[in-house]
Amino acid sequence: MTTVIKNGTIVTADLTYKADVLVEGGRIAKIGQGLSGDKVLDATGCYVMPGGIDPHTHLEMPFMGTYSADDFDSGTRAALAGGTTMVIDFALPAPGQGLLDALSMWHNKSTRAHCDYSYHMAITWWSEQVFDEMKEVVDRGITSFKHFMAYKGALMVNDDELFASFRRCAELGALPMVHAENGDVVAELSARLLAEGNRGPEAHAYSRPPQVEGEATNRAIMIADMAGVPLYVVHTSCEESHEAIRRARMQGKRVYGEPLIQHLTLDESEYFNADWDHAARRVMSPPFRSKQHQDSLWAGLSAGSLQVVATDHCAFTTDQKRFGKGDFTKIPNGTGGLEDRLPMLWTHGVNTGRITMNEFVAVTSTNVAKIMGMYPRKGAVLEGADADLVVWDPQAEKTISASRQQSAIDYNVFEGQKVKGLPRFTLTRGHVAVTEGAMSSKEGHGEFIAREPNGPVNRALSQWKELTAPRPVERSGIPASGV
Ligand code: URP
Ligand code: ZN
Ligand code: ZN
Ligand code: ZN
Repeated sequence: MTTVIKNGTIVTADLTYKADVLVEGGRIAKIGQGLSGDKVLDATGCYVMPGGIDPHTHLEMPFMGTYSADDFDSGTRAALAGGTTMVIDFALPAPGQGLLDALSMWHNKSTRAHCDYSYHMAITWWSEQVFDEMKEVVDRGITSFKHFMAYKGALMVNDDELFASFRRCAELGALPMVHAENGDVVAELSARLLAEGNRGPEAHAYSRPPQVEGEATNRAIMIADMAGVPLYVVHTSCEESHEAIRRARMQGKRVYGEPLIQHLTLDESEYFNADWDHAARRVMSPPFRSKQHQDSLWAGLSAGSLQVVATDHCAFTTDQKRFGKGDFTKIPNGTGGLEDRLPMLWTHGVNTGRITMNEFVAVTSTNVAKIMGMYPRKGAVLEGADADLVVWDPQAEKTISASRQQSAIDYNVFEGQKVKGLPRFTLTRGHVAVTEGAMSSKEGHGEFIAREPNGPVNRALSQWKELTAPRPVERSGIPASGV
């Protein structure tokens, strides 16, 4: 059984051209003119692009006394509905729990996935066991490690642990990632705000000003540089953090920044809404920022100082958000976005001229595949690559509404937004999962994708570090060891 996508224009991170795509056995078998197959998908007027890859999701994650409401079933359905064909979720060991133990828990949850997936492993505590198990984790194809510099008393790790883990990542050819917020300062500011009677969701934003993010981003960059390892900064939300990344890159440091579609399109005014539920539903860390910060993020995408757009999809129902009535520090942190990332970015990025179509593909798919060690199996329209494809109709329109979404929660932070540019078809390894909004995805179709460590950037960086490593000066008549 073969499928052919006919009459479309292929759009990749670096090329735009007219060709048909033949799919066989879950892979792209041929790209060319006048191809035929058993089943024909008409792509007239559409762009054929690599399916989106969301490098930042939290499906069924235990967090702040509850579990995020979208699991690998509803979460990956939402992904496919919006043209995303792969997610990278965070396996999160409880402090004291082994990494391999957490990994088998995540493997159990993900058996329901409708699209392919991978994990990042979180380092939530430090010990010889963690050090040892990091190698096994990498051997099993999980090549990125996440560190929380916030959530004091829960997931946060300190600088000594960061440095030890970053050095271990350097040895293993893995990529460290950080949630960059100064958790000590956030804890102080939160306690003070509560004591002063600031208990509503708006205080969440006051407790996490851009400075806490800028400081932590800069600190993580310097620690990574000393460890000789690249660094990936998740949910970059403000100019202070972007500035640190931009500066580091100009100095030749290998640092990546990931804005979220929420931070690009929603601002801090949401927290001042008179409706408590409205504001609490938008509580996430870092919080939404002002328009100036949004402009900085958009500029970073077009300038290339920021490389990826993600969602940090971590959805909680209104009832779950209400755990924090009377105390903003108890509102579960997180927002959804999996189904909306591509249409929102196309509408606010490509349709406005802020980014090109090719840049759209780069930041939603190809750059992720390259940075995360799975290119060109994923993130490419090439013969031999997985047939994770989206046939994108730039004329199709809709108004975002929770009443029609795949996500399990009862609202959508983008409710009422009009988007132009939607999937006509989404294919996951050749299987047509979406046709103009109608779902035909299959629970359990998704497979775990093992990723490669020691990518070109890790190799180049370790070579440079080796060349410039401290060496004793040879002095005549004096042994090199000293005096
Ligand atoms: O508020 C957020 N971002 N929740 C998800 C966990 C995290 O910090 O990424
Ligand atoms: Zn985070
Ligand atoms: Zn996250
Ligand atoms: Zn299938």
